[in-house]
Amino acid sequence: MCGYLAVTYPAALHLLRNNPAIFSKDPAHWQALRLGHVPLDSPALMMMQPRDNALWKDGPAHTRLRRAITNAVTQVDTHKLAASVIQIADQLIDAFSHTGQADLVAQYSDPLPMLAVIGMFGCSQDEGRNIVSLVTRLFDGSDPEQANRDLEAACLQLTRAKRDAPGRDVASHLIEADLTDEEMVQTIILVIGAAAPPTSNLIGNGIRRVLTDPSFAGSVHDGVRPVSDALDEVLWDNPPVPNYSPLYAIGPQSYEGVLLPPGEPILVSFAAANSDPALAVDPSARAGNKGHLAFSAGAHACPAPDLARLIAETALGRLLDRLPDVDLAVPSAELHNRPGTFLAGLTALPVRFQPEARLIPHGR
Ligand code: HEM
Repeated sequence: MCGYLAVTYPAALHLLRNNPAIFSKDPAHWQALRLGHVPLDSPALMMMQPRDNALWKDGPAHTRLRRAITNAVTQVDTHKLAASVIQIADQLIDAFSHTGQADLVAQYSDPLPMLAVIGMFGCSQDEGRNIVSLVTRLFDGSDPEQANRDLEAACLQLTRAKRDAPGRDVASHLIEADLTDEEMVQTIILVIGAAAPPTSNLIGNGIRRVLTDPSFAGSVHDGVRPVSDALDEVLWDNPPVPNYSPLYAIGPQSYEGVLLPPGEPILVSFAAANSDPALAVDPSARAGNKGHLAFSAGAHACPAPDLARLIAETALGRLLDRLPDVDLAVPSAELHNRPGTFLAGLTALPVRFQPEARLIPHGR
């Protein structure tokens, strides 16, 4: 099994901007997959195999499904979303704030975006809890086929409920685009799967940045450097999705002398492109600079970067408001990324703080 990785900023843009004219997103082009050469337990399979949703389609089929998604996410009420993130953040912090210690990955950055996204879909609490546990089962890899079937059934139930009683939520707005039940199910799974893990990584790595980078130490709390600066820096030099967007050359192609045969996947390294020496973006000029590729570019660029930033910024800000003396409980060198090519998330983020630092009483 073989493939290519685009590591310079121009190469990344060349690939992303020439989809679908020269490079296709459709994994039907993946020769090793067609020939059955990709091992069933390959981690690449879960992230690169064809699914019937916008992420893997080109041209008009992609445009139609993507329009449904952008129509739905642009109608999200950002004030309500921020309020819901604060409520979720408070519930999560309330669960550990009396202990003086926490693992902010397991107890904060991992669950928070999933709960926020489920809320955007207008699920009841039970539906939401069920979908969260099924997505977790799917990502855990324990009996993924059964988890996938159960998740599809839960998303179909949500679709039917929203067809009967539409609201002002992402699921109801997707229905407005005349998607079939099957398209609804796959689109709900795509949006939840595309939204939650990267936003978790951005929050986790954002907290780490604030707690370990001397340029933030002591200054975020007094407002000298806003948390949004920390997030910008993470999006540049530790993007939540470091390598992805598999593309396939349509016919033999070459780029700067490198032959790109059809049938072999070409991944885009957003992490490498962002740190391309030829870019000459001074690290001190990264805050506020949106020229990074963390949200990709071209036809499949992330349709919701502003929502992602809003969730992450609100979550990070609330944590620092609630636990102003929060600090790492282990040396920074003991923090590690989860294994894997596609996502950059920490395994754990142990912190400590004064247990009485809870500024806001329970039950607000
Ligand atoms: C920090 C958080 C996020 C990051 C770093 C991120 C990054 C990305 C990237 C790199 C892609 C391109 C994938 C590819 O071409 O294969 C993408 C696509 C996508 N993202 Fe995001 N994303 C984030 C949050 C979100 C959120 C909050 C939502 C929805 C509420 C979302 C929905 C999607 C969807 C639906 C696509 C597929 C678009 C298409 O194929 O046309 N993402 N995202």
